[in-house]
Amino acid sequence: MTDLFDFKLKSSGFAVMGNPVQHSKSPQIHRLFAQQCGIAIDYDRIQVDAGGFDQAISHFSAHGGAGLNITLPYKVKAWRFCQQGQNSLSHRASQAQAVNTLRFENQGGVFGDNTDGAGLVADLQNNIGFSIQDKSILVVGAGGAARGVIGSLLACCPLRITIANRTVDKATALSEQFGDDVQGVGLDRAADRSFDLIVNGTAASLAGQLPGIGGKCIAKNTLVYDLMYDAQPTIFMNWALAQGAAQAHDGLGMLVEQAAESFYVWHRRRPHSRPVIDALRRF
Ligand code: ATR
Repeated sequence: MTDLFDFKLKSSGFAVMGNPVQHSKSPQIHRLFAQQCGIAIDYDRIQVDAGGFDQAISHFSAHGGAGLNITLPYKVKAWRFCQQGQNSLSHRASQAQAVNTLRFENQGGVFGDNTDGAGLVADLQNNIGFSIQDKSILVVGAGGAARGVIGSLLACCPLRITIANRTVDKATALSEQFGDDVQGVGLDRAADRSFDLIVNGTAASLAGQLPGIGGKCIAKNTLVYDLMYDAQPTIFMNWALAQGAAQAHDGLGMLVEQAAESFYVWHRRRPHSRPVIDALRRF
């Protein structure tokens, strides 16, 4: 891991910045993409404390940095950073109110993007073979992870999106930003009907907990997707399969696909994600 303020270090073109970052798979993913495309890149992990975040970005840029991935807990901070001065934001980052990709522009300024939603959609549609159009979708959770994917799901013309959250007010407030096709409810209302797709965007799996939605939201055709991933299927995936869901997927494919989209933002090249997903599953 790089100490950002060690000036003796060779500057690297790309890095993932967050806290913690030691377990991030981003360096491995981007090196595999770069190999595929015949591009030489350096890609580091940089751990920063909250107070030094803006300074760390400027420092990285000043020392030859070309792009950064931003991970927890700094995606909202990065979005705020991109609202300053001559910095700019993509539409999807503005909508998500969070940034996971920064590109340092030649003419100065930093461009902030959010590739998380595109990553989920690419994994669902290209890898899993699930078409979002005309489907009913339940997003469980109304925090940053959920906010980051709703705009991209909506752009694929689903029948409707229901957001269910433990704190109902957060679900309704989030739904109101997306118009009439998105409805916000409490967790108890999530099982009023079944859904074609259920996305778990809560932090519950991290704590080994279930988010507390009833099994009636699952039908025999339901595909369940947990934005979390682990070496083993998550507790939510196991629960959904036990309730009769057709398929349950973790967020590893989305992780690789959001990285592929970041790679495109930086290099204007689209790498093949499938072999990289397969490689990560083997490790
Ligand atoms: P992130 O940026 O990862 O989404 P967050 O903004 O803190 O993190 O949001 C976490 C989400 O997980 C919230 O929707 C939270 O529900 P509340 O808004 O009611 O807090 C949800 N969450 C966390 N733990 C949960 C649990 N055990 N059961 C149900 N929902 C949970």
